[in-house]
Amino acid sequence: MTTLKVNGQTHALDVAPNRTLADVLRNELGLIGVRVSCSEGECGSCTVLVDGEPVTSCMMLVDQGEQHDLQTIEGLGTSDDLHPIQQAFIEEQGFQCAFCTPGFVMSAKAFLAENPNPTREETAFAMSGNICRCGAYPYIVDAVMKAAEKLRAGDGTDRRAAD
Ligand code: FES
Ligand code: FES
Repeated sequence: MTTLKVNGQTHALDVAPNRTLADVLRNELGLIGVRVSCSEGECGSCTVLVDGEPVTSCMMLVDQGEQHDLQTIEGLGTSDDLHPIQQAFIEEQGFQCAFCTPGFVMSAKAFLAENPNPTREETAFAMSGNICRCGAYPYIVDAVMKAAEKLRAGDGTDRRAAD
């Protein structure tokens, strides 16, 4: 039995230990905001936060997620009450197809927690572990800069996380 704490909720799962964290989050817990593309740790689309740090969940075995606080994009906001980072991505249209967006949002969350007032260059560098096949990079940087403004204005609440 594997126990995962995800978005503030604890789940006991009977899953094979050779499955990846990304696979289990998506296919056992239904957290399909965890996008899987390369499965090789290259694209960042499967990024989740592990104790607040961005991690490519396709490169973690599910058991490695035990004893940690895991957060996916589903732990940030609801469609009626978006997290400021999600809202900023919409306002700045930081996407085209949006496949990569959850990964960028999770990377941005970790980055802005460490650097709440970044330069554009720092933001572009911090997002460089995520790949956008549509090439929406300038808009993604705009979105993260706007998210930083929103968070500095005081609203950094995770809408769904229990604590
Ligand atoms: S799917 Fe995990 S890094 Fe690409
Ligand atoms: S918006 Fe399509 S891959 Fe990034």
